[in-house]
Amino acid sequence: MENILLLEYLCQEHTNLTDEEIRTIEDISRNLPLIADLNQANVFIDCPTKEGKYAIVVAEAVPTTAKSVYKNPVVGKFAYESFEPAVFFTLRTGKNMFLNRALTQEGRTVEQSVVPIKGVHNQVIGTLIMEKDISEKLYHQDKMKALSEATETLSEILIGMTTDRPIIPEVIEEALFFIDPQGSILYYNPAAINLVSEVCSTDCTFGAQIETYFPCLKDVFYSPEELLVTELEILRKSFQVKKISLGQKAEGTFIIFRDMTELREKERELVLKSVAIREIHHRVKNNLQTVASLLRLQMRKGVSEDSKVHFIESLNRVLSIAHVYEIILSNSSVDDVEIYSLIEKIGNMLVYSGDVEHKDIKIKYSGPILTVKSNKAVSMALIINELIQNCMKHAFVGRAKGSIEVSFGVTKGSLFLSVTDDGVGYNAAAIPSLGLDIVKMMTEHDLSGKFSIRSNDVGTIASVKFPIERE
Ligand SMILES: Nc1ncnc2c1ncn2[C@@H]1O[C@H](COP(=O)(O)OP(=O)(O)OP(=O)(O)O)[C@@H](O)[C@H]1O
Ligand SMILES: [Mg+2]
Repeated sequence: MENILLLEYLCQEHTNLTDEEIRTIEDISRNLPLIADLNQANVFIDCPTKEGKYAIVVAEAVPTTAKSVYKNPVVGKFAYESFEPAVFFTLRTGKNMFLNRALTQEGRTVEQSVVPIKGVHNQVIGTLIMEKDISEKLYHQDKMKALSEATETLSEILIGMTTDRPIIPEVIEEALFFIDPQGSILYYNPAAINLVSEVCSTDCTFGAQIETYFPCLKDVFYSPEELLVTELEILRKSFQVKKISLGQKAEGTFIIFRDMTELREKERELVLKSVAIREIHHRVKNNLQTVASLLRLQMRKGVSEDSKVHFIESLNRVLSIAHVYEIILSNSSVDDVEIYSLIEKIGNMLVYSGDVEHKDIKIKYSGPILTVKSNKAVSMALIINELIQNCMKHAFVGRAKGSIEVSFGVTKGSLFLSVTDDGVGYNAAAIPSLGLDIVKMMTEHDLSGKFSIRSNDVGTIASVKFPIERE
């Protein structure tokens, strides 16, 4: 019972899971002890945390049929991508991962199998993990024998063998320190020398306290976690800092600094850029709406009945493009336009609002959730606008009611869009005017596609088909 309360608390505190999703995780957690016993392995449930960077262990079971991999409980601890890549792979992709190597929160090597836990909409809400200690297995493999011994002697190698040939730490980009339990530096690599001289303007010396160089490292170093990944800001530079404490046999701690400044800088620039782009979209939308209001104003000031139609048509064209920007601004992406919403907005505007005659006309939409880039969306908006406007203008002449259907979809790398009505039908001898010219031009030039319009047994069908790149 206590475990369930803890699980609920951890999920609410650290994850974005809904109550329903937490319930699902709880149900699964009840079976963990059985799974652990059957597989003679430790099993866990990890859920992604709010920021998505880490995962948190919300439930665990220790096998009673085998030796546990862990000395201490791990519920509430964080899992890091660098040590448990399989967990993050599964969280991200929803795929299974079997028998992957991982480093436990206590610094042991284990074999990890991970399967996703999915919610009602098939989204990944957590992972079910099974871990088996493989140090024994490693020991029996001759080749691997050296490796298990290496853990013990790693510190010696690092400190002693630096003279004649470079070993791996010498050539890596990350700054690496090996520190004894009292906090004094036993080893540092060339990147570490550079880091210390850059940050403190002094030389790095053996035996010096790591804290004198990096006071902000205190919390990381003395935290009880054996493995820790965090980000620190030092002299306006960003570093990812990893702490790896070795077990009882080889006492000591590795501290690894990775300079993330450039990456973070790029991220910041990207954010700024996308903010600027959104701002521009906003202005474009406002300007288009201003143009529309000017047209409307002019129309109210009195224009002849003949030109009124043309004003309304132009107005609708401008507003259709404005809808593209409205949709971009309503979601978080910079340049993706969801076309169902776009079609719906334009259709509703033309059929249900504003300057239309009083007729009983209905419009229906069908199609999948699909996004296109804004330049294509603008062409599509104009095409849809013309085709629906034509239905309103020509299809139901002399009729009291009618219906329009707009549908779209993707087949074999092409997007198709059709506007059908149950009106008077299309006269093949009709002379295309500006409207259908716009549709043809947009389809052929901007979308590299094909347009056709003809009568069918109920009315008129106009369709457009153009290739789309796979994203
Ligand atoms: N859904 C339809 N039902 C019946 N006839 C149509 C339909 N769509 C188009 N037509 C015919 O095709 C002709 C050309 O259409 P087009 O959109 O090019 O010109 P328009 O609508 O007359 O003028 P505008 O340039 O203002 O759009 C129309 O005049 C009409 O006769
Ligand atoms: Mg027209």
